Amino acid sequence: MIDPFGRSISYLRVSVTDRCDFRCVYCMAEDMTFLPKSELLTLEELERLCGAFIRLGVRKLRLTGGEPLVRRNIMSLVNNLGQHLKTGALDELTLTTNGSQLAKHAEGLAAAGVRRINVSLDTLDADKFCGVTRWGKLDQVLDGVFAAKAAGLEVKINTVALQGINDDEFDRLVGWCGEHGFDLTFIEVMPMGEIGELRADQYVPLNEVRARLARNWTLTDTHYRTGGPARYWNVAETGKRLGFITPLTHNFCESCNRVRVTCTGTLYMCLGQSDSADLRRPLRASEADAQLDDAILEAIGRKPKGHDFIIDREHNDPAVARHMSVTGG
Ligand code: 5AD
Ligand code: SF4
Repeated sequence: MIDPFGRSISYLRVSVTDRCDFRCVYCMAEDMTFLPKSELLTLEELERLCGAFIRLGVRKLRLTGGEPLVRRNIMSLVNNLGQHLKTGALDELTLTTNGSQLAKHAEGLAAAGVRRINVSLDTLDADKFCGVTRWGKLDQVLDGVFAAKAAGLEVKINTVALQGINDDEFDRLVGWCGEHGFDLTFIEVMPMGEIGELRADQYVPLNEVRARLARNWTLTDTHYRTGGPARYWNVAETGKRLGFITPLTHNFCESCNRVRVTCTGTLYMCLGQSDSADLRRPLRASEADAQLDDAILEAIGRKPKGHDFIIDREHNDPAVARHMSVTGG
C-alpha cells in the first residue's frame, strides 16, 4: 500500500473500544458518551479486518482504545492475531494500555506473541495520578507494569507532558524508568476533542523539556526508530532510551507509515485530519474480501500529507472533533 506521497503503509493501529476505565483530563471530558454496543464490530469482524490489512502489506499491528483490555474477551482477538506472527505474515503485535488490567493479562499477552507494550503513565504520585485520570489507582497500574516486566514483556512508558501536573516530575520519571529498565517517551498534548479545559493551559513544549533534562542527564542522539514518530536519545546514566513525540514543535508526518481503524470499522488515514472511510459496510456486504480490499486501497489513495495541529491562546478549538480515545493515538 503506497500513499499519494510515496509513503509505504505497513503499520495499522486498531482501536478495539472507545471505552476506558479512566477519564484522563487531556483525553476525555468527564461525562463522555460512548458508542452503543450495537455499533461495534465484533471481535471476529475486527480479526477479519486486520487479516485484510495484513494481506495488503501491514507488518505491524497495535491494539489500542480507549483501553483495549476493557473490551470483553479481548484476549481471544490477541491470540488469533498472534497466529499471524507464527506464519511470518506479521512482524509485530503490540498494545497501548493504561495498565489497569495488565496484572491479569500480562502472561496471556506474552504467550500470544506480544513482545513489547506501551503503558501510559503520566505521574508517579498517587494523588496526582488520581487527579489526572479522574479516579485511577496508581498502585493498580504499577502492579500491571511489574507483571508485564515479570512476564518478559518489554515495557515503554508513555507520559503526556502536562503543565502544572507533571512538569516537576520529568527527572524523577527518567530515573524511575532507568531503575526498572523501561524506555520512556514524553508526548506533547494534542488538540483532539473537546475536553472542557484550555489546551494552552495543559501544553508543555518538549524542546524546553529536553533542554532542561539535558542539564541532569547525558543525552546522546540515536538513530533508533520504532517506525513511530518519536525521536530517541540515549540516557547514559540509565542505559535506557528517552523518546520525544512532538507533533506541535516538530511535524513528523513526512515519514508516516500508519493508518488507524476504529472499533466501528472507520478508517482514519491521519491522526490530525477528519477524512475517513467506512470499512464496516464493505466488510459486511460480502464474505469475500474483494470489496473490503478495494475500500482500503481507495482510502490509502487519499491519505493526506499531514496534520496541522496548533496550540496557542488564539486557537483553542480542537484540530479534530474526535477524542484521542476514538483512535488511540
Ligand atoms: N494528546 C496527546 N496524547 C494523548 N493521549 C491521549 N489523549 C491525548 C492528547 N490529547 C495519549 C495517552 C496514551 C496515548 C495513546 O495517547 O496518554 O499514552
Ligand atoms: Fe483512558 Fe488512555 Fe484516554 Fe486516559 S488517555 S482516558 S487511560 S484512553
